[in-house]
Amino acid sequence: MDRVRVELGLRSYDIVIHNGALEQLPALLHEEAGDKTRVMLVTNPVIYKLYGQKVQKNLGMSKEELIIALVNDGEEYKTMAEAERLIDLLIEHKFDRHSLILALGGGVIGDLAGFVAAIYQRGIDYVQIPTTLVAQVDSSVGGKTAVNHPNAKNMIGAFHQPRLVVIDPLVLRSLSQRDFLSGLAEVVKYGLIADRDFFDFLRDNAEKINAREDQVIQQIILWSCRIKGYIVENDEREGGIRAILNLGHTFGHAIERYFGYGHYRHGEAVAIGMGMAAGLANQLEMLKTDDMEKILELLKSLRLDFPDPEIPAEHFMRLMSMDKKAKDGRLRLVLPTDIGKVQIVVM
Ligand SMILES: NC(=O)c1ccc[n+]([C@@H]2O[C@H](COP(=O)([O-])OP(=O)(O)OC[C@H]3O[C@@H](n4cnc5c(N)ncnc54)[C@H](O)[C@@H]3O)[C@@H](O)[C@H]2O)c1
Repeated sequence: MDRVRVELGLRSYDIVIHNGALEQLPALLHEEAGDKTRVMLVTNPVIYKLYGQKVQKNLGMSKEELIIALVNDGEEYKTMAEAERLIDLLIEHKFDRHSLILALGGGVIGDLAGFVAAIYQRGIDYVQIPTTLVAQVDSSVGGKTAVNHPNAKNMIGAFHQPRLVVIDPLVLRSLSQRDFLSGLAEVVKYGLIADRDFFDFLRDNAEKINAREDQVIQQIILWSCRIKGYIVENDEREGGIRAILNLGHTFGHAIERYFGYGHYRHGEAVAIGMGMAAGLANQLEMLKTDDMEKILELLKSLRLDFPDPEIPAEHFMRLMSMDKKAKDGRLRLVLPTDIGKVQIVVM
C-alpha cells in the first residue's frame, strides 16, 4: 500500500493508493478519521451502483449512522442548490462537527461534497474517495472545493483539506476512454511542469498506459500525487508555485468557453492547451524545437493529440484574457522552458 503524506501542519493528511483499497476502507477510516457516529456518503447513482453499494455494505453501519446522499450525474449539478440540499440533509440527520462526509466519485462529487464539508458548521471532516483519473491525480488532492455559478465555473468555493484520500486505481476499469484520457492529460502535465524522469517514464510506458495495465496505472497515479502533494505543501492557497499547475489551462479554458462547457472534456482542452503552450514557448525562443517535438510526440503516443480547434485569433485572445488567473487585465501564461521546467510569463 503506497502512501503520500501531504504535510500542512494541522491540516496534514495521507493519500493512500492501492489496487483494491476500497476493500480496506473501513480500517483506513477507523485509523485516520477515528470512529464517527454519523457519516454521509455523497455519490451519484452511476457510481453508487458500481461501487457505492459495496462501500455501504463494507462500512457495516446502521441506516441512522450512514446516510446515502445521491446527486444526479453531471457538472450541471455542481451547484449551490445541490449544496443546500445536502446541508438540509445534514441538519435533518443532526450532523455535527464530529461527523464525516465521504465523497465517492469524480471531480464533480469531490468538489461539491468538499464544499459542503467546508461550510457546514464552519467546516467538518471529509474523506475523498476519487473514482475518475482526473479526481485521483488532481481534484481530490489539495483542498480546492467549489460549486459553479450560472455564469462562471468554480466561482463559489473554499480551501478545505480532506482528512484522508483513498485511491483505488482498479475502479478506473469501468471509466470511459474519454474520461480516462481527460485525466491522462493532467498526468502528462505533471511530467511537463516538474519532473523529466516522470516524462521519460510516460514516454517509455505509453503502450502499457494505453492498455491501462493495472500496475503502471497505479504508478502514474502515485507519481502524480507526489508531485501535486509537493506543490500544495509549498503553496496551499495558490499565492505562488501552485500557479504552475495551470500549464495548458489558460488556453484550455478559452477553448472550453468558446465551444460551451461540455463540448470538450476539461482534460481534452488542457491537452490541446499544453500543445499550444509548447508551440508558443518555442516561438518565443524559450523552448528548444527538439523539446517541443518531444512534448508533441508524448501527447501523440498517449492519444492526446487532438486537432487544434478553429477559433479566430482575436476571439481566442479575448477569451484567454477573461481567465480567472489574469491579473489587471494581463495574461499570466505558464510556458515550458525545458522538459520538467516551466516559467510564468506575464503578457
Ligand atoms: N478541486 C480541484 O482542484 C479540481 C481539479 C480539477 C478538476 N476539478 C473539477 O472536477 C470536475 C471534473 O471531474 P471529472 O473529470 O472527474 O468529472 P465527473 O466527476 O463528472 O466524472 C466523469 C464521469 O465519470 C463517471 N464516473 C466516475 N467514476 C467512474 C468510474 N469509476 N467508472 C465509470 N464511470 C465513472 C461519472 O459519473 C461522470 O459521468 C470539474 O467540475 C472540475 O472543475 C477540480
